Amino acid sequence: MADTITITDNRTGKQYDVPVTDGTIRATDLRQIKTGDDDFGLLTYDPAFMNTASCRSRITYIDGDKGILEYRGYPIEQLAEHSTFLETAYLILFGELPTASQMAEWTHDITMHTMVHENIKKFMEGFWYNAHPMGVFVSTVGALSTFYPDGKQIFEEEARRRQIVRLIAKVPTIAAYAYRHSIGRPYVYPDNGLSFTGNFLNMLFKMTELKYEPNEVLARALDVLFILHADHEQNCSTSAMRSIGSSHVDPYSALAGASAALYGPLHGGANEAVLRMLKEIGSVDHIPAFIKGVKAGDGRLMGFGHRVYKSYDPRARIIKKTAYEVFEVTGKNPLLDIALELERIALEDEYFVQRKLYPNVDFYSGLIYQAMNFPVEMFPVLFAIARTAGWVAQWEEMLLDPDQKIARPRQIYMGATKRDYVPAAARG
Ligand code: CMC
Repeated sequence: MADTITITDNRTGKQYDVPVTDGTIRATDLRQIKTGDDDFGLLTYDPAFMNTASCRSRITYIDGDKGILEYRGYPIEQLAEHSTFLETAYLILFGELPTASQMAEWTHDITMHTMVHENIKKFMEGFWYNAHPMGVFVSTVGALSTFYPDGKQIFEEEARRRQIVRLIAKVPTIAAYAYRHSIGRPYVYPDNGLSFTGNFLNMLFKMTELKYEPNEVLARALDVLFILHADHEQNCSTSAMRSIGSSHVDPYSALAGASAALYGPLHGGANEAVLRMLKEIGSVDHIPAFIKGVKAGDGRLMGFGHRVYKSYDPRARIIKKTAYEVFEVTGKNPLLDIALELERIALEDEYFVQRKLYPNVDFYSGLIYQAMNFPVEMFPVLFAIARTAGWVAQWEEMLLDPDQKIARPRQIYMGATKRDYVPAAARG
């Protein structure tokens, strides 16, 4: 027998056969289930999309119980070990690892688009000196749409490719300008002789030297962090990217919306919260009391737990290793000892074991960023640079998917029933 489920509607006694494909039923197949002619048909109620697949995707695979993350089938561990962020971005976008000549062309294209229009600089200068760099990033990415009217040609492959290259190439420049603006230093132009992350470090930290020489260990560590953050299937910001893009707006406007979603503390801001927590704990001796407080419901152990991962987040394992490499160069972040001891105690504690709470990607990333001299306000911006690859890939996949239409959820109306307008003088 074919894969179907039979639903009996106990309100009417009728039975319906609904096809099951890839472990899912189509929500619209439930619309035939009605109590009468004027019944709209059965809807599903799923706030926060806890159990609803919004698309078919071939980009990222996650098995949260087993702690597996793969881009286009390649395990994240292998990509973090052997790939670069630019190569991984190519893989995420085009589905295959590039050949040597494809990689050379891709690197050339990205490198040739790192500069932003001088008016973008002027635009950014309008922000108040203490503007949050993520707020500056969100607004400036949105403003890019006014510079590239061909961004509206979303169904022309060549035009789409141009915007994708521009976005991946320009987000580090915008991020670096946002940072330099926040500390009152002059903006540094891209150096096309450097690698993607080497150039980013140049734009952030160059002072008066003629040529900035990035530290190779730090540039590589940043590259690994970017690989780990490049995509994570249908998370909040990616769903925002797809949803906004489904209106057929240009990708700059959609990506501004996606980065706004990332700005929130429940999404891109957790590593900042981890640092604050570690500082508050202050010393290893205070950990038992802190854990006791968490178990009693007094706050959360930030950087632990995940909606999807119910085992060790594979990205956290890689980040922990990278942290040691970075500390070799920068000196150990004094908060590391607290983090390590916190992790050791939590992983043995019944409360965390029972609830399957393990370190997530954010537990160690903030420690690395801080050791590399990034202020906490820059953490979500770094996340946004890496995730731009995933956002544009998911956006393009959505546009080319014949199943997709403008995103438009239903609601269950709970408000007042029809009533007549009352003139102001007659209201009680
Ligand atoms: N510390 C203490 N208890 C926790 C924690 C935590 N970090 N996370 C979950 N719990 C408990 C929670 O109290 C609940 O216990 P009980 O069953 O007794 O009520 C149980 O575990 C299940 O929690 P939940 O809130 O239903 O789980 P969720 O899937 O809705 O939340 C989460 C996932 C990531 C929001 C949550 O684990 C959390 O708040 N973690 C800390 C914040 C954090 O590190 N966020 C970064 C996420 S990774 C980056 C990203 O994806 O953007």
